[in-house]
Amino acid sequence: MAEGSLPRKFRSMPPITRREALVELCGHKPDILQDNPLDYLDLADVMIEQAVGIMGVPLGIATGFLIDGREYAVPMATEEPSVIAAASYAAGIIRLGGGFETSATEPLMTCQIFFHRTASFDLSAWTADHLPAVQEQARTALASLESRGGGFRDIRISTDGTVPWLRIEIDANVGDAMGANRLNTTGEAVAAFVEQHTGIRRIMAVLTNASEKKRARAAFSLSVEQLSRVRGGGPDTAVRIVLADQIAHADPGRAVTHNKGIMNGVSALALASGNDTRAVEAAVHSWAARSGSYKALTDYTVDNGCLNACLEIPTAFATAGGATAFHPTARASMAILENPGATELSRIAAALGLAQNFAALLALTGEGIQKGHMEKHARKTAYIAGARGPAIQAVAAEMARRKAYSLADAAGILNETDTPGTAAGEI
Ligand code: MEV
Repeated sequence: MAEGSLPRKFRSMPPITRREALVELCGHKPDILQDNPLDYLDLADVMIEQAVGIMGVPLGIATGFLIDGREYAVPMATEEPSVIAAASYAAGIIRLGGGFETSATEPLMTCQIFFHRTASFDLSAWTADHLPAVQEQARTALASLESRGGGFRDIRISTDGTVPWLRIEIDANVGDAMGANRLNTTGEAVAAFVEQHTGIRRIMAVLTNASEKKRARAAFSLSVEQLSRVRGGGPDTAVRIVLADQIAHADPGRAVTHNKGIMNGVSALALASGNDTRAVEAAVHSWAARSGSYKALTDYTVDNGCLNACLEIPTAFATAGGATAFHPTARASMAILENPGATELSRIAAALGLAQNFAALLALTGEGIQKGHMEKHARKTAYIAGARGPAIQAVAAEMARRKAYSLADAAGILNETDTPGTAAGEI
């Protein structure tokens, strides 16, 4: 596609006209426009700029979650095979030990305001003179949250020895919202007040996505005996899992993969529920590095014949505002979860992340993760070769039987069978 040859007014065009421009540019109807139902176009157009369509990511439901004594079916949007099956499998094992126990902190988010500080700046004198008035400004700007039990909670003023800044941090209980709009508005109001009344100049004011005061924790316990009887388990499974966890605490390279497995669950729930996946992910990875070195987010121990597991993560999940409130799939996901508030959704996210990690460690320390993977790969290859409907499974099963997993193998098998499917190469 020739760069820069879309019309200058591409952004201000109605989305349907944007699509026409794209077709003209490409000389044909690009694949991304083939399957997009037109009634989704307006939705895309109000969510982002320069929208031309939607990208479908599979939505699945992880089953069998017992969290704080309550059954949950957990919607997950992901492009990765095996993830939902693994979460459901782990949830089924974890319920043998009574399921997950979860907890969460008060939903506090923080706004940061940075000002330019001169060399002669006296922090204690400035704070003594100005803190009460600045705090009052923050409290007033956050007053709309008070009717729902939220609002202003804390303010901190600090400087850094090396960077010429003065930093004001304001914590607020944001309830079910992510809090970005409210806290950014508050930050700008406080910054303007400080500039007006003290003469120091602001550099910037914005919420921090670190979300470290809005955390959720999930834990489970399984007897070593129970664990030894599950598929893929053995007498030393618990010890091997603890060792795998310790390795991920000691080796940052392994920690990244370990935590990525956790995020297979957490991010999939964030996407399914219309949450800001980047905010959730940035917060979690920053939390994993809070000691100064990137570490595993989980802790596993063996005590008194039990494997104990826990995961604690920042959870920048919201259920009010954002896409969660109006995106049809996000609303469906929320309905499947019986419309939890943000704190409950955060607790579910922590349980899901822990289940995902447990499934990965069980497989990795047991029979490995490739078994079963090739069968799912075969289904995808059969699809790419042109199989549709029941032909996908039939071709994949035959590929597995022959241990022949290439695209050419799939196409050959598809041509041999009389199961309906498009001919190879036609998609
Ligand atoms: C794959 O998406 C995730 C795993 O690599 C996680 C892990 O290694 O712990 C299986």
